[in-house]
Amino acid sequence: MKKLSTYVLGITLLGSLSLSIQCKGGEKKSNATAEKGATTAPVSIQKSAYGTTPEGEKVEHYLLKNNAGMEVGIITYGGRITSLSVPDNKGTSANVVLNFESLEGYLNENPYFGALIGRYGNRIAKAQFELDGNAYTLAGNDGENNLHGGLKGFDRVVWEVAASEAGEVATLKLRYLSKDMEEGYPGNLNVLVTYTLDNDNNLSVDYEATTDKNTVINLTQHAYFNLSGDFSKTILDHELQLAADAYLPVNAVLIPTGEIENVEGTPFDFRTAKLMGKDINAEDDQIQKGLGYDHCWVLNDQDQGLREVARVHHPASGRVLTVTTDEPGIQFYTGNFLDGTLPTTQGGNYGHRSGFCLETQHYPDSPNQKDFPSVTLRPGEKYNSKTVFSFLTQ
Ligand code: GLA
Repeated sequence: MKKLSTYVLGITLLGSLSLSIQCKGGEKKSNATAEKGATTAPVSIQKSAYGTTPEGEKVEHYLLKNNAGMEVGIITYGGRITSLSVPDNKGTSANVVLNFESLEGYLNENPYFGALIGRYGNRIAKAQFELDGNAYTLAGNDGENNLHGGLKGFDRVVWEVAASEAGEVATLKLRYLSKDMEEGYPGNLNVLVTYTLDNDNNLSVDYEATTDKNTVINLTQHAYFNLSGDFSKTILDHELQLAADAYLPVNAVLIPTGEIENVEGTPFDFRTAKLMGKDINAEDDQIQKGLGYDHCWVLNDQDQGLREVARVHHPASGRVLTVTTDEPGIQFYTGNFLDGTLPTTQGGNYGHRSGFCLETQHYPDSPNQKDFPSVTLRPGEKYNSKTVFSFLTQ
């Protein structure tokens, strides 16, 4: 019964999402150049040297361009998205992901700017878990918890990359072999992440992995967006809609308590579009624990696979980002730990809440929470997950 009502509500929400996309006057999927150029201007990929890690590994930069005015920069270090330019509703392009000037910024301490995250996105309580009766101990890199894979997660390794411009899409295939017990996780894990840019301003991220021992896995992407393209501004004026009737309350160190709470009547209700800033300072225990939003939402229609789950609209620029995924959860994080110490590429520093993340994923701490959807990957199985970031204007 509960499932049925969730299902109907989800359909209604997504129905209203697509309805608003079709009805609102100036909204369009791609700009005029795109429509004209679709058959003539092909996608392109430019490769260039980006620097060298302290261990002497060469890092490359790939610039993917489509014919709708979208450009995405990706480096082989951490598979990080280092730029993502999209037009506003007047056709003016700007980079909308928080980034650094050069490799040094990414090598230095930073909160996962643009990075691929693994083996386990989000937190594992007390940096330990048990699988098949074996206890595993990970690095405590977030107080006593394990965060985003540990001290040297997938955000800090150099990926092997193959680029191809086939037909209407530009594709980057990033491979990494995470060795048995790397960062304390069991199994040799073979990971393939594919970034694909098409001419409709969709950037897809496809994750695949196989293992030779039972292990846990939860891969995600940690881009920080600010659709204004002006990093001196906060993201509080962005409107967010989430197809989620519930979220996961957390304890004082941001580990889910295990409860699944309905968003109704809470600051976590984004079922209809709402400014990110509207309830972010509410007198609410969960908001206080997160220092704002830093929670995993339980997405609707989990049995439906790939579906649109989030939509962000920045009214001043008209830019819209939608997120489509087959994952059950999404961590909405409002850059609460950005504290004005890291330099922007625009001559200032990244201030509090100058970027937001929408990290599609399984729930945090799943290896220790038996009632959460499983994150176990076994030999012979294939881990598959897909997220699409789409850009349009309104
Ligand atoms: C995730 C976490 C946040 C924070 C950022 C990086 O989004 O949920 O608490 O750690 O990564 O700073």
